[in-house]
Amino acid sequence: MTIEEKTGKTLAELAVSDAQGVESLFAEVRAAMEVGRQNLVARGASTEKEREQMCKALRDRWLARKNGLLAQIDEYWLKPAARELKPAVGRQFNALRQAAAWLEVPALLDDVPLKRDATVEVKGVSLEASVGQVTASSIRDLHDLTLPGYRRPVGSLHPVTRMQREIEEVFLNLGYGIEEGPEIESVYYNFDALNIPETHPSRDDWDTLYIDSKTLLRTHTSPVQIRAMKKYGAPLYIIIPGKCYRHDNPDSSHSPMFHQIEGLAIDKDITFADLKGTLDFFAKKLFGEKIRTRFQPSFFPFTEPSGEVAINCTLCDGQGCPVCKESGWVEVMGCGMVHPEVLRNGGVDPAKYSGWAFGLGVDRYALMKYGINDIQLLFQSDVRFLEQF
Ligand code: PHE
Repeated sequence: MTIEEKTGKTLAELAVSDAQGVESLFAEVRAAMEVGRQNLVARGASTEKEREQMCKALRDRWLARKNGLLAQIDEYWLKPAARELKPAVGRQFNALRQAAAWLEVPALLDDVPLKRDATVEVKGVSLEASVGQVTASSIRDLHDLTLPGYRRPVGSLHPVTRMQREIEEVFLNLGYGIEEGPEIESVYYNFDALNIPETHPSRDDWDTLYIDSKTLLRTHTSPVQIRAMKKYGAPLYIIIPGKCYRHDNPDSSHSPMFHQIEGLAIDKDITFADLKGTLDFFAKKLFGEKIRTRFQPSFFPFTEPSGEVAINCTLCDGQGCPVCKESGWVEVMGCGMVHPEVLRNGGVDPAKYSGWAFGLGVDRYALMKYGINDIQLLFQSDVRFLEQF
């Protein structure tokens, strides 16, 4: 059945009865649309007048208000679609309409080249006829390198990338630099240099993915604190975005690969007030001026004192709901004053300098910010999900 014939029948007549069927039907239509456009682009036109006529013909075939293929689809597929199929058909139809923007005459005119021999023949074989019998030499002959490239839909930034850039932006504006470090890390940088004792539970095989006894996939971005101190010395103001790995089973809030952003500020006379002030400013910039922050004592071997920062739950405004586990607060990062031993391991003299640091999980920020309820969605590369950003 041709596309014309199909668009003249209802989904029921085409025996399409579920969302998957709708999707593949529309995929077929999109492919037909793209082939039509590409053929015209490849063929070109010999005069401006001819180009205009051909572009208009292609445009009308798809977009004419009366009897254009999209109008047909609206009439025969969307309008009479069964109730439960309608959302899927509507979604697909919208996407199709968006893609059809490339078929508007001005866009086509941009893409279809003028070629003196376009309507005649290429080396004795008309372009259309040659499609079915392509040989090595005819490919060479048909390959016109002066043709404009095919337009491909421009994608969008992954939600984690967007979130990361938004966080980076806040700190870049405060004068912080961005530093990166290796994902395959030594046990020394990941643990020992950060004052994490041999006996610490996070070191065992249940939590950490080892490559060999001295090498692992970094479990946090903190090892880059040491690397950066050694590289730049003090004073130092940096944030460190990157992938981290832990031996976690995937579920709606855990992924064995995830993203952190670490922050580190080292200078003379840095105090806990700097930590509090900066992180409160950061939370307000990211989540809105009305956000309140709460600092609670915690423990990390590489900071002393250590803290956890929470913001008031934006869903229930601190009243208590399932998202904040009825507490009214959502934890957003770990932080603390850099431990003197850690400064020393980075070659910075703790008698002269002090510092503060934080670490946060970018993926969870993205879940919060975009209202996503399953971290797995971020890593499944499902275009239906990613298209929404
Ligand atoms: N590295 C810690 C973690 O992964 C977070 C953190 C970073 C805490 C810096 C304090 C200071 O949990």
